[in-house]
Amino acid sequence: MTADLQDTSTQSAERFAESVADIVDKGAIAVMLSIGHRTGLFDIMAALPPATSEKIAEAAELSERYVREWLAVMVTGGIMRYDPATGHYTLPDAHAACLTRGGAQGNLAVYAQHVALMGTLQDRTTACLETGEGTGYGDYPCFHQIMAEDSTQTVAAALFDHILPLATGIEARLEQGIEVMDAGCGRGRALIEMAKRFQKSRFTGYDLCADAIDWARAAARRAGVGNVTFEARDLTGYAEPGRFDFITSFDAIHDQKDPEGLIRGLRASLKPGGVYLVQDIGGSAKLENNLDFPMAALLYAVSLTHCTPVSIGQGGAGLGTMWGWETAERMLRNAGFQTVGRHVLPHDPMNVWFVARA
Ligand SMILES: C[S@@+](CC[C@H](N)C(=O)[O-])C[C@H]1O[C@@H](n2cnc3c(N)ncnc32)[C@H](O)[C@@H]1O
Repeated sequence: MTADLQDTSTQSAERFAESVADIVDKGAIAVMLSIGHRTGLFDIMAALPPATSEKIAEAAELSERYVREWLAVMVTGGIMRYDPATGHYTLPDAHAACLTRGGAQGNLAVYAQHVALMGTLQDRTTACLETGEGTGYGDYPCFHQIMAEDSTQTVAAALFDHILPLATGIEARLEQGIEVMDAGCGRGRALIEMAKRFQKSRFTGYDLCADAIDWARAAARRAGVGNVTFEARDLTGYAEPGRFDFITSFDAIHDQKDPEGLIRGLRASLKPGGVYLVQDIGGSAKLENNLDFPMAALLYAVSLTHCTPVSIGQGGAGLGTMWGWETAERMLRNAGFQTVGRHVLPHDPMNVWFVARA
């Protein structure tokens, strides 16, 4: 090896070591963003003027000693400012816009919860790697809470302005009154929003997990909507032939036991002229196409720790989060839909949307 090459490889190893250190540092910050969201600390700081750790802890009703340590992460991590002369901490408005409930840029701290959750799954995931076994939803105690917060931002908030208009004509039919089903509805936020808006239509939500369904029912009661029902139901082998005019699924196909069988069942459950609107992760089935895909490493990590093992745990194939839009499109075409349209919404480059007409 020439001296030049040796130098280059040494420099490269040094630079790479710096990158790894940066990854570890930022991973810690991500977990702390999740804690800031869960404790409400970001929301409280956004509402306070620059304040001491004592004032912040008092407003949040949290232990000052621990709040001070969390604030130190926020300052050294570039999230907040600290003035040593006054002992005041500041969450700049531009940062609050990305880290608070109702923030103008969407609350990115919601997504940091996925990173914190996968840390708690380290032992479980290691066991999956060693044995090839799957997991059950009970292995993820706060999954439905995180998922509902996630999809409230990406789906429920964009339903009427961006998402339903993809399925041309569906809003007029919803106004007139049709039968709608959401497959894998989780805590049901999207369905409840539609039920509130389109009161002549009837909405049914199915999900495997009884705890998510209980939550959805309680939320529907609180919202005072009577035209939505939720049922705990395993959609493996599902079909209710010709029952529905409109079926949706939001990020709920790739982690099923049998995604292709479910898509066929959903197709069979539509009336003639019915529409299936499906959102799923928009990555490619080919790793090499995903090198620049937004947050691809996070998505593969969610796949390893959640989407792949929950499918395998149900006896399924474990297609994973990055099963690929190509796979989804092929399954939709194989299911016999008349037309299949594919869309990516500008506000949400991570997901792909299909409109499939029976
Ligand atoms: C990623 S979550 C999406 C939840 C919801 N659509 C949302 O966007 O918040 C996938 C959902 O599929 C549900 N699911 C997984 N396997 C299922 C099955 N065999 N039958 C019914 N639902 C299932 C899970 O319980 C989970 O709520």
